[in-house]
Amino acid sequence: MNLPAWWTIDPCAPFRLGPREFPGRIWTASGCFGYGLSAHDVAGADGRTPYDGLGAVVTKTVTPSPRPGNPMPRLVELPTGALNSIGLENVGIDAFLAETLPALEQGGVPTVVSLAATRPQEFGTMAAALQDAGAGCCHWHGVELNLSCPNVAEGGHDFGRDPDTVAACVAAARVHLPDRALLAKLTPNVAEIGILARAAADAGADAVSAINTVVGLEVDLATGRPVLPRRFGGYSGPGILPIALAKVDEIVSAGVPVVGVGGIADARDALRFFALGAVAVQVGTSQMRDPLAAADLAAGLVPDGQTQEPGQTQDP
Ligand SMILES: Cc1cc2nc3c(=O)[nH]c(=O)nc-3n(C[C@H](O)[C@H](O)[C@H](O)COP(=O)(O)O)c2cc1C
Repeated sequence: MNLPAWWTIDPCAPFRLGPREFPGRIWTASGCFGYGLSAHDVAGADGRTPYDGLGAVVTKTVTPSPRPGNPMPRLVELPTGALNSIGLENVGIDAFLAETLPALEQGGVPTVVSLAATRPQEFGTMAAALQDAGAGCCHWHGVELNLSCPNVAEGGHDFGRDPDTVAACVAAARVHLPDRALLAKLTPNVAEIGILARAAADAGADAVSAINTVVGLEVDLATGRPVLPRRFGGYSGPGILPIALAKVDEIVSAGVPVVGVGGIADARDALRFFALGAVAVQVGTSQMRDPLAAADLAAGLVPDGQTQEPGQTQDP
C-alpha cells in the first residue's frame, strides 16, 4: 500500500507512554491473542512471526480468582465481525503471576497486563501483587484496566460508565505502579466518553484504550431466540470501526492520550486512528482470524526508507 505523505512515524520504533518506553505502536488487543504465548509455531512463508514489530501484547483480562467463563455458545460470527460473550474466562491473578508472567518475560514478549475486578479496591490489590511479582521484568510495560465489567459494590453497573468510579479504579492501581504505564480501557456504550477519559487521566492514567466491544444481540431465526445464552454480547470487528473512530475523536478532543482499538482489519484502518491523534493502536478480531495480522500491519506502516526486518523484536 502507498502510505500517505503525512504519515512519517515508524510504528515499530520505540515511543514513550507515561513512565515506559514501548517498542512500538501496533499492539494486539486483550482477549484476541490469548496471553500472548500461543503463537510460537505460527510463521509466515517469509519467516515472519506474529511477534515481529509488535509494540505490545495486551493479555487476556485477568481477575482476582480464576473464572470458567460463560456457557456455550460464546462466539457468533457475523458478516461484519463477531459477537462474543466469553465471560472473562481466565486463570486468575495467582496462576498468572506464578506461570504466565514469567513465561512472557522469558520469551521477551512486550506485555501489557489486562486486569478486571468486581470492586475498585481489587484493582489496587491486583496491581500491588503484579508490581511485587513483576519487579524484575523488563518486558512488562504496563497495565490496562478493563472497566467494561460489572461493579458489584455499585449494583452491577459497569465501572466504565461513571467518572467517579473510573477515577477510583485508576487511582487504586496507580499508587502501586510507579514505573509502568497505566491505561484505562473504556466501553463505547456510554453517551460521553470524553468525560470518562478525562476522569481516568486526572486520576493518573497515562492513556485510555478505546474501544471495548459494542453491546449487540443476534437472533437465531430457526428458534426465534437470541443465539447467546445471556442474550447480549460484545460486537467487534470491521463493523465497529466508525464507532471506534468517533469515540477516539471525542477522547482526543478531551485532551487525553488514546490507544485506538475497534474494527482494525488492515494498515489503512490503523492509519485512520493515527490521523485522529491516537498514540498507538490495537488489533483484536482480525488477530483472531489471522495471527500474523498485527505483524503484517506493522510492517505495512513503516514509511519508505525505514526498513523493518523480520525478527526485529525478540521472538519468544
Ligand atoms: C473473543 C473476544 C474476547 C475479548 N476479551 C476481552 C478481554 O478479556 N478484555 C478486554 O478488555 N477486551 C476483550 N475483548 C475486546 C477487544 O480487546 C477489543 O476491544 C474489541 O474486540 C474491539 O476491537 P476489534 O474490533 O479489533 O476486535 C475481546 C474481544 C473478543 C472478540
